[in-house]
Amino acid sequence: MRLLVTGGAGFIGSNFVRHIVNTYPDWQIVNFDKLTYAGNLANLHDVESSDGYSFVQGDIADREAVAKLFSDLAPEAVVNFAAESHVDRSILDASAFIETNIKGTQVLLEAARQCPVERFVQVSTDEVYGALGEEGVFTEQSPLQPNSPYAASKTAADVLCMAYRKTYDIPVVITRSSNNYGPYQFPEKLIPLMIRNALSGKKLPVYGQGRQVRDWLFVDDNCRAIHEVLLKGRPGEVYNIGGDCERRNIEIVELICDILASKVDEPRSFRELITFIEDPRGAAHDFRYALDCSKLQRELGWKPSVGLEEGLERTVDWYLENQAWVESVITGEYQEYYQKVYGGR
Ligand code: NAD
Ligand code: TYD
Repeated sequence: MRLLVTGGAGFIGSNFVRHIVNTYPDWQIVNFDKLTYAGNLANLHDVESSDGYSFVQGDIADREAVAKLFSDLAPEAVVNFAAESHVDRSILDASAFIETNIKGTQVLLEAARQCPVERFVQVSTDEVYGALGEEGVFTEQSPLQPNSPYAASKTAADVLCMAYRKTYDIPVVITRSSNNYGPYQFPEKLIPLMIRNALSGKKLPVYGQGRQVRDWLFVDDNCRAIHEVLLKGRPGEVYNIGGDCERRNIEIVELICDILASKVDEPRSFRELITFIEDPRGAAHDFRYALDCSKLQRELGWKPSVGLEEGLERTVDWYLENQAWVESVITGEYQEYYQKVYGGR
């Protein structure tokens, strides 16, 4: 198999590349990544010298670079992880989200039209469905009602994928997963940000009252699901991928505090660091996400295997053992971003 993975230096992409390289040593895997603030080759230090693996730096929105990549590799399959992925950044400035998430996806689809592939997996998100109240779940048939600029850009990409499927018969399959967590997640998202702040004795900034609900999916489970979809997903179909682990944000933050307290030498109350701040997302803050994943289970036999307590403990352990990684990915740009979102609050 000649597989093109885009965005493979980011959080989920690097976990997926590791999973595939270790599962199929005979596959040829090219990781095409722009290396934005969120992309880091150190995420792949343990697989970079594997025989079938190679890295090409580039932008999925760059038509010429992508055309060259397709003609050099002639990929049989594409998995598109490359994206601007953070809601808070999209609220500060949506431009890069439009460029990468929408135009970049269209450039990849166009390349797949010129140089046909057997499978094109578009990695999307449950955020395209919008927000739920206290009850209910999203199925693959739920209407697309995105609220943040990030969610709107991912929705546009999904709709383009479906249009290319209908118009040009590109064998697109879309995955929509809930919130991932695990090793190598950039410390701007809830879980790694809280772990890092707690370990540095900084405040733990919970938006509003922390009542929002997310469904948490351990990243390895998502990688296994995307693997199944790559091999056996039906072209033109959408598959929801959820962790079956709904929790309010405040519960997640308290759980992280308690796990950390049980691991550090000097017992400390990390919970005292929790600070409720004015919600920077305002009306774009989706209250709750929850997914019906019965289609994936029925058709491809997948279900999540890592529960929240186990997954969070593994995640905390990883961050404790890899504090140097955390410091290495936090640049001046991160400090500037942090100041913008949390500075005055
Ligand atoms: P991430 O921000 O950690 O990584 C994104 C990667 O894409 C980085 O390596 C970055 O350098 C690369 N990239 C960005 N712009 C690019 C461009 N123009 N060309 C080439 N590479 C580019 O994101 P993630 O959390 O790993 O998410 C991966 C995918 O999964 C995204 O499409 C995201 O929308 C989707 N997703 C993420 C979650 C989650 O909880 N993290 C949940 C559902 C869906
Ligand atoms: P996040 O990890 O950014 O994922 P998403 O917005 O894609 O769901 O945020 C998860 C939840 O945590 C979301 O409801 C916003 C909240 N949150 C905080 O309360 N404080 C924070 O510092 C961050 C980053 C998020």
